[in-house]
Amino acid sequence: PPPLLCLQDNDWDPTLEFLPASDSKKLEKKPGQRRTLWVGVGLLLTGLLVWNFHLRSDVRMTRVYIGSMGINNQPFLPEYEDPSSPQFTHLAALVSQQVRPHTVPEHHGSSPHLLTHGRLEDGGDGMVAYYQSEFDLPVPQQKFLDEAIESLDSPAESQQGRQGRVLSVCILPIVFSDQTFNIRVSEAGTVQSPGFPDFPYPPNFYLQWRLRADPGHRVLLNFHTLILEDNCQQDFIKIYDSLAPIEQCGYPRGSLSFRSSGNVMLLTLVTSELKNFPGFRANYSQIPLTEQRCGGKLSANRGSFSSPFFPSNYPPKTICVWNIEVAEDKFVKVQFKKFFLGHQSKPCLGDYVQVDDQRLCGSKLDSTVLTAQSNMMTIRFVSDSSYVDQGFTANYEAFVPTNPCPGRFQCANNLCVDRTLQCDGWEDCGDGSDEVNCKCETFQMQCGNGHCKPKFWLCDGVDDCRDNTDEENCVKCKPGQFTCRDGRCIPDQLKCDGRSDCSDGSDESKCERCKSQCCSLTMFTFRCRDGRCISKLNPECDYEPAPGAVCCGMKPYQSSRIVGGEVSREGEWPWQVSLHVRGMGHVCGASVLSPRWLLTAAHCVQDSQVYRYSQADQWEAFLGLQSQSKIDKSTVRRKIKRIITHENYDHLTYDNDVALMEMDTEVPLNQYIFPICLPSPSYDFPAGQEAWITGWGATREDGIAATDLQKAAVRIINSTVCKSLLGDDVSDRMLCAGVLQGGVDACQGDSGGPLSVTSPNGRVFLAGVVSWGDGCGRRNKPGVYVRITKYRSWIKEQSGV
Ligand code: ARG
Repeated sequence: PPPLLCLQDNDWDPTLEFLPASDSKKLEKKPGQRRTLWVGVGLLLTGLLVWNFHLRSDVRMTRVYIGSMGINNQPFLPEYEDPSSPQFTHLAALVSQQVRPHTVPEHHGSSPHLLTHGRLEDGGDGMVAYYQSEFDLPVPQQKFLDEAIESLDSPAESQQGRQGRVLSVCILPIVFSDQTFNIRVSEAGTVQSPGFPDFPYPPNFYLQWRLRADPGHRVLLNFHTLILEDNCQQDFIKIYDSLAPIEQCGYPRGSLSFRSSGNVMLLTLVTSELKNFPGFRANYSQIPLTEQRCGGKLSANRGSFSSPFFPSNYPPKTICVWNIEVAEDKFVKVQFKKFFLGHQSKPCLGDYVQVDDQRLCGSKLDSTVLTAQSNMMTIRFVSDSSYVDQGFTANYEAFVPTNPCPGRFQCANNLCVDRTLQCDGWEDCGDGSDEVNCKCETFQMQCGNGHCKPKFWLCDGVDDCRDNTDEENCVKCKPGQFTCRDGRCIPDQLKCDGRSDCSDGSDESKCERCKSQCCSLTMFTFRCRDGRCISKLNPECDYEPAPGAVCCGMKPYQSSRIVGGEVSREGEWPWQVSLHVRGMGHVCGASVLSPRWLLTAAHCVQDSQVYRYSQADQWEAFLGLQSQSKIDKSTVRRKIKRIITHENYDHLTYDNDVALMEMDTEVPLNQYIFPICLPSPSYDFPAGQEAWITGWGATREDGIAATDLQKAAVRIINSTVCKSLLGDDVSDRMLCAGVLQGGVDACQGDSGGPLSVTSPNGRVFLAGVVSWGDGCGRRNKPGVYVRITKYRSWIKEQSGV
């Protein structure tokens, strides 16, 4: 199918935005030139009028041009909000006259005509009329059309007090259904994609919702659900801060709460032929423009401030100014803790924060500290007309210039951190200054850049020093020896002999052909679809399910507790199960392996002194669950028929901490309930790889369980490193994952749940099962998981999956 040809977020050059009107030709990326066809960008966009002249013939390519024309010296009448009013019709006819393309090939029959859904916006000192022209043309004729459309710019521009230009051009695949809903948001309500929530949205659709608040109000749009195809070029929504689609693009990431800068907002949904997802539901309402004024005078000794509506998205076209003034004998510093202002633009032209004369823009993961050499500081936040984001939070503090960090360590960037964090091997300042010039302890090595790191990180294949000095000059294996990925040396002959001699199987992962017992599950081999048997690393990377095998690891929904995590989207982890015990509610997590089988941790199903957890009839599985407080249509409950605990489970060491659960009846697979892929024994999850943990467990050590399913990203940790951190309790059948800096981990109640890893082809594999940890989220204490590759054949034997 023809792709949808619109400019993507990252193709967009934000510096194009503020060029003067006469430069419009330079701005244009010509249609047909590449696939990026949003052309030119709006300026002075304040009013709106749209009509549509169809010159349809039997062609499959639709081209939509959207343009604007500023009309000065013309007050905005309330009647302009109503496209059926005579005032609107009159003005629309005038503008239509102005922008009619004279050179569009004649033989398309019908002449341009005005459609009823025209739009005008109030622009303060005038109006801007927007026009939308849609053509279906045979491809060879499109260049005439481009010329014709270009000619639209000039007559308008030559008129005194008028400015016109093509704002955007978008090619849509085949003729789309063009539907528009005009909504007054003075009464709150809901918008949703067609078919939601029972059916996926239809293919090849273009829909728009024009939301209009009362004057003096802004539109508030909160998405309750938003599940579209991951590929933003196929299906997407866009939210515009006007009634013409000229700005904000794509699939929102951070917050799903949007506010307009004025009284109008446009929401569009575009879908392609491929893959249709459930879609969205959003609530709209209006809020007075005066609500949450930002900026002001700050004169306390310390305090905080944030961008408007944080953590919701800030509105476009907003300016806030904070003037900090503290006691005269002090200096001021400000620390930005969260900072999400969209993509970085080179000279910070789009959205930015200006602290005195320094500009910050883009999104930052580390906190930023800025200091004034005086008791005053001015902070200015500016958002332009496109691409809103969550914004920032900041703390400010007055400090004594001679003693900026009483009792604490002062980072080079003036942040104050706890003394104990200095030279502990971790960067806490954000600029590394707490880890330089350290005297290394005996158990530490000295990096070239002066940092100290644990000795066992030497030559482990990971650049821990960040200057790679811990990985230079490492002893290589002798000639005739093979170097395992974990650094060990084995005789060359052991390579590709069908047996794992390196502890990580790396000696069997890149072999030309099968040696023995080709394609048994336990070997490092894989049978291709054409019947060939090969030996290679992660054969499932080119996963083609064998006939009869369960399809797995797909996130049919968006694809796009836990300590340090965030709430997941509905259907984001369709293999996640909540295991309830009668009368106790949620106790453990589990993963869906097939319509009948679940995998959990053996320690979840051990009898305690008071409770018979090993009895299947005590358990109930909840699949397709998002919130523990709400069982909805997608939730399926199943009784457990049988529990198979690993015969070698050791309750002291948690070795072999796996158990299978068979449900009493099969569950239907759908976008909320779907199996995760099981890795073959040779599947490699290298140290450093990203993995996700999910669950309803405690959100902090000794904390309480989460209501909504939480997710957090962790990294696979090298076993040697893990053993040295946690001791010999870590067996080779365990896998460590976490964030060694602390703060992100699984915790009580997450047990049995999945550690999910996405393979390069997008399938999700079960790398581990949440098993144990030393506290939760502590520094240098990664979580320990059951290493599922070690149990592939056990699972097969016991359940047939
Ligand atoms: N054993 C715990 C449970 O029953 C899970 C512990 C995981 N802990 C950790 N720090 N990763 O829920």
